[in-house]
Amino acid sequence: MTSSTSSVTPIDSYLFGPWAIVTGASSGIGKEFARQLAASGLHVVLVARRLSMLEELGGRLASEFGVQYRTVGVDLSDEHFLSKLDEATHDLDIGLVVSNAGAWMIGDFLTTDANALQQSLHLNVNAHVEMAHHFGQRLAQRRRGGLLLTASTAGLQGIPFSAEYAAAKAYVLTLGEGLHSELQRKGVHVTVLLPGATDTPMLAASGFDLPAMLKPMSTEQCVAEGLAALKVNRATHIAGRMNRMLAASMPRRLATRMYGSMSAQVLAKQSGEANVAKRPA
Ligand SMILES: NC(=O)c1ccc[n+]([C@@H]2O[C@H](COP(=O)([O-])OP(=O)(O)OC[C@H]3O[C@@H](n4cnc5c(N)ncnc54)[C@H](OP(=O)(O)O)[C@@H]3O)[C@@H](O)[C@H]2O)c1
Repeated sequence: MTSSTSSVTPIDSYLFGPWAIVTGASSGIGKEFARQLAASGLHVVLVARRLSMLEELGGRLASEFGVQYRTVGVDLSDEHFLSKLDEATHDLDIGLVVSNAGAWMIGDFLTTDANALQQSLHLNVNAHVEMAHHFGQRLAQRRRGGLLLTASTAGLQGIPFSAEYAAAKAYVLTLGEGLHSELQRKGVHVTVLLPGATDTPMLAASGFDLPAMLKPMSTEQCVAEGLAALKVNRATHIAGRMNRMLAASMPRRLATRMYGSMSAQVLAKQSGEANVAKRPA
């Protein structure tokens, strides 16, 4: 975890507290959301599959910021995840929901296992819809609070060899844009955060070779920007000035080609490594 001297966007604990839920809190961007929210005095419900990492994080946030925490170990691609989450949170006054968990599958679409595709859709699409629907009702009832959905700049165009992931992120973006206006009338802020390349275990595991101009941004900066956008109730926010410039200036088909060739390089690298591994010693 980074020190508390890094960028943090403080947020109003009356409007967005006393409790916040963060999915994908065991790692990367979600872990940093939990840290920045706890730094504002919000109690946090930490959600992901790796319970031990959530417990460790919760303990640290409690001792550093004096907040309470709950952990929920759940697989968000499981169709019954919501009942477990509801059971763990029905007695809490939830003011903010950060629906952030996601996973990136790079691969050849036609040879990807159909079950893996379904699982990915459950996590990257259905979980966001169910979180927004269930907790959106609770937020609307109290007539204040926030919903932040993590999409990606990957959702701004189709991406060969990451086609399902890019399409899922486009769904989240469009869903959040629509909900922004619907929930505004009920006093609830809705913001879609679109990170570009961000320095997390997911990016490291992807094997993506990024051009120098797309140097990954820190999770601190990405989250601080997301919370700043939520505070002023912006419908969408692309994290990072360079990412905003690229999104505004690069023709969509060029972006498809650029990100597609980066995904293709990862695949080529992976199949080269698989061939080396298969070669007899
Ligand atoms: N890093 C980037 O460059 C980048 C760029 C654009 C968008 N994003 C988006 O940012 C979000 C966070 O990604 P990250 O980069 O922080 O990745 P990360 O470090 O790999 O973290 C992903 C988080 O999601 C959780 N998660 C994954 N599958 C899950 C499942 N089936 N059930 C429950 N939790 C699950 C993981 O926890 P467990 O493994 O413990 O379950 C982990 O806490 C994702 O939605 C991603 O698409 C990232």
